[in-house]
Amino acid sequence: MTAFSAARARPARDDLFLSDVLEGLSRPDKSLPCKYFYDAEGSALFDAICTLDEYYPTRTETALLHARAAEIAGLAGRGATLVELGSGSSVKVRILLDALDAPALYVPVDISRDHLIAAAARLAGDYPAVTVVPVAADYARGFALPRGVAPERTMAFFPGSTIGNFRPAEAVAFLQGLGRRLGAGARLLIGVDLRKDPAVLEAAYNDAQGVTAAFNLNLLARINRELGGTFELERFAHLARYDAARGRIEMHLRSLDDQTVRIAGHPVHFARGETIHTENSYKYSVPGFRRLAARAGWRTERSWTDDDRLFSLHWMVRQG
Ligand code: AVJ
Repeated sequence: MTAFSAARARPARDDLFLSDVLEGLSRPDKSLPCKYFYDAEGSALFDAICTLDEYYPTRTETALLHARAAEIAGLAGRGATLVELGSGSSVKVRILLDALDAPALYVPVDISRDHLIAAAARLAGDYPAVTVVPVAADYARGFALPRGVAPERTMAFFPGSTIGNFRPAEAVAFLQGLGRRLGAGARLLIGVDLRKDPAVLEAAYNDAQGVTAAFNLNLLARINRELGGTFELERFAHLARYDAARGRIEMHLRSLDDQTVRIAGHPVHFARGETIHTENSYKYSVPGFRRLAARAGWRTERSWTDDDRLFSLHWMVRQG
């Protein structure tokens, strides 16, 4: 029998989706929370992004994890509990589970409930010795951890540079809260995309096949599907650009003409050229990220990068 318990779920909240959408679209600078990208379609599109030539983060981080797996296993110790934030398809964690010394417990936390449960069930089948406890939650809002896990055995795993979705001050608050939740002595393995040639960054978010554009536009399709929206997708265009001063990629959806869209009956007007800001993806230098983490109470014990300095992995310990 595989050790697999039912997800501790907060139910999907359509009302929250609707109020977040209406709130974001009623601002002078329209925006939508990027967490809503990840419905079933969006999760599949994101998995497709991860295999694109232009999208270097996934393969670079994966190679780093393979290269450092034995070292990470030594740092993690025997019988570790792994808590993964935004676990998606739970692909990268397998590299760790294969390398760690008798990992005891795996807690994948993800907002996309069905995707989470399917991925957790597959993983539990492949790792019968590991207890898998999926938690369906928006990890940014806080979530319940299984009881009785010693902080010194706990290792959070936050790959993919998902931390880049937070503004720096929010990232500090988030890492601070995570450390408080996990306790003094807890460890964190976090993947962070690095600042680099803007052309390389912009290509990663403007792939030739248009998968990132489809991922971005799926947010409007999801509003149509779930909230009775009337977005005509061909009247919006994907836009991704690097803001070097802020060190972030911004994704937007630009209205191609003057138009009014209805969402659950509420009219929303778009001027021609007006955009909806859908995502920020902050990039850091290695010392810049270590400073940010230090402000949140995490001491960096190791930082690893690939030879091309595209991506970084950091091993951190929560200070008392
Ligand atoms: C999952 C937030 C790390 O910012 O690179 C990929 C999401 N957006 N292509 C990123 C994303 C467009 C991704 N993160």
